[in-house]
Amino acid sequence: MRIGVIGTGRIGSFHAAALARHPEVGALVVADADPARAAAVAGTVGAEAAPDVAALLGRGLDAVVIASATAAHAELIARAARAGLPAFCEKPIALDVPGTLTALAAVAEAGTELQLGFMRRFDAGYRAAREAVRAGRLGRLHTVRTATSDPEPPPAAYLPLSGGLFRDCVVHDVDIVRWVTGREVVEVYARGSDAGGALFREAGDVDTAAALLTLDDGTLVTATATRCNGAGYDVRMELAGDRDQLAVGLDERTPLTSLEPHSPAPPPKPWPGFLERFAPAYEAELDAFVRLVRGEAPNPCDGREALAALRVAEACERSRREHRPVRVEEIV
Ligand SMILES: NC(=O)c1ccc[n+]([C@@H]2O[C@H](COP(=O)([O-])OP(=O)(O)OC[C@H]3O[C@@H](n4cnc5c(N)ncnc54)[C@H](O)[C@@H]3O)[C@@H](O)[C@H]2O)c1
Repeated sequence: MRIGVIGTGRIGSFHAAALARHPEVGALVVADADPARAAAVAGTVGAEAAPDVAALLGRGLDAVVIASATAAHAELIARAARAGLPAFCEKPIALDVPGTLTALAAVAEAGTELQLGFMRRFDAGYRAAREAVRAGRLGRLHTVRTATSDPEPPPAAYLPLSGGLFRDCVVHDVDIVRWVTGREVVEVYARGSDAGGALFREAGDVDTAAALLTLDDGTLVTATATRCNGAGYDVRMELAGDRDQLAVGLDERTPLTSLEPHSPAPPPKPWPGFLERFAPAYEAELDAFVRLVRGEAPNPCDGREALAALRVAEACERSRREHRPVRVEEIV
């Protein structure tokens, strides 16, 4: 199989390396808006570098992986669809609902597959949580708490293109809450703080946020996110029901120290970032994409899933800006 990777930054170079190791991937072609970056990654993983996206699409590919900056996703999805190629795209599809719908229309018209990169669906802990909820182990689920904490802000240039903390980070929590619980978010109330570095205020973004999400069965979800968690990279979910309580992401590398007497010492090797914490999940989602392209497995996360998560993230952003609860049905 010949796969093209568009965008060879932080996550694109990681995906390129994973694909280069995949036994079903015979050839890899990479391209980036910065051709020198594409050439460097091609050299590292043993891929061909194309000078631009048009050249990449002309290289007889079976599929493409889109890992460019978010602002380019929708257009690249449409180009892949018009070329008749199945695509895997990093989240989100676009920064707004109209852009997302335009990209999805191009995919529908072409009849191609689009898989979105919500990798938490491939993480062992979240998969176990989904099974536990479905098996009734928690009894009546009433409370979910999620945390997404980055150890440090991304590069300043990334922020204005990211869509903000809700669309960029909290969208992962929204997706995994929907996937684990099988419920839809109906209303949100969100707040944000930009008291950290000036780069957040300059980008109109916040460095820390909290949202209260209400699910369609009344389950309450609190979702917190920050770009400034000095202790390390911390992504967790806690689920509480009237029979049991479970946690995802609580292990010997969780950057959290208990102050109770006789509790374990701080983790000696806290998770440093998303690439380390979710490495097996990123590999598994690309393996699922390869199987989708080969016609061996269904699409594990299609464009409608991304649209649903985006609408909730956008409702959070509106709630933060307008300082009021927002019904998700408002986001059309
Ligand atoms: N699933 C996850 O956990 C996860 C983690 C990080 C990033 N992401 C997503 O991946 C995407 C990339 O993030 P990143 O952190 O790797 O960013 P990055 O800034 O490190 O890399 C983006 C790359 O895309 C290139 N690029 C921009 N526009 C392009 C275009 N039109 N054509 C080709 N290349 C183009 C840039 O030159 C850059 O090399 C974002 O959409 C982000 O939301 C997802």
